Amino acid sequence: MPNNLLVDGPADGVRVFTLNRPDALNALNTELLGNLSRALDDAEADPDTRAVVITGSQKAFAAGADINEMAARDLVGILEDPRVAHWQRIDRFSKPIIAAVNGFALGGGCELAMHADILIAGENARFGQPEINLGIMPGAGGTQRLVRKVGESLAMHMALTGEPISATRALQAGLVSEICQPELTLERAVQIGQSIARKAPIAVRLTKESVRKANDMNLAEGLRFERHAFTVLAGTEDRQEGLDAFREKRKPRFTGR
Ligand code: CAA
Repeated sequence: MPNNLLVDGPADGVRVFTLNRPDALNALNTELLGNLSRALDDAEADPDTRAVVITGSQKAFAAGADINEMAARDLVGILEDPRVAHWQRIDRFSKPIIAAVNGFALGGGCELAMHADILIAGENARFGQPEINLGIMPGAGGTQRLVRKVGESLAMHMALTGEPISATRALQAGLVSEICQPELTLERAVQIGQSIARKAPIAVRLTKESVRKANDMNLAEGLRFERHAFTVLAGTEDRQEGLDAFREKRKPRFTGR
């Protein structure tokens, strides 16, 4: 059986994960989600991996949870679903995740894309939460992350009608940060990953954590968290290196210390 998750790299600090179930438009069955979760464990432990890119095919990033697998699960099956732990693992990943999305990003596919810290879309991308058409609802963050990313009105529209939005609309709404020609999406995402990989790793880690706190905390708490993180960085060698390099008009050599 072909591997449903292809892993490339790290090259220049970036590992690329390609969802690979072409016959099912990369539907996220439990095996694929588990492979992604374990691949993130490896990437987390590898100091040479500074950022990861998750991508699919030109036709589909991922068309959602695997509907055939889901149909076989009853209430208890869903209650004890191992997928929950896999989603939590993706959510907990401490290094930047960049999604390179072409084609369909629907249901769990849209939810996976929203786990990314930076989302790059090809002009052919379609984002949607069509679960309502199946008599169900989003179950991996679609009602929560989507609201935070695009606002309540558009999130309601998408989740209640199941209608997908285009890449252009997703850009206007703030769901994606850039759109490009579909054949350049992955290259652009890798380029962004490589740019991040050249920064000071502890500063990158704390920046990601701090930005994400903006969704979990009120402003006063978030500002306090940011200030603590900023203070912690004062103890790193990379901070000194960054400041010295600027004053000496040279490129910094960050070590992650
Ligand atoms: N699960 C399982 N198989 C899927 C799938 C999915 N989510 N999406 C597509 N496939 C399969 C199709 O069954 C088809 O297989 P066969 O060739 O064996 O029939 C193959 O992929 C190609 O799909 P289509 O022929 O349908 O391709 P299309 O270009 O005509 O349509 C599409 C593309 C509009 C994306 C359509 O496939 C579709 O609507 N897919 C389902 C999308 C969806 O509802 N996603 C939400 C799933 S629920 C969920 O995600 C919940 C959650 O996470 C908590």
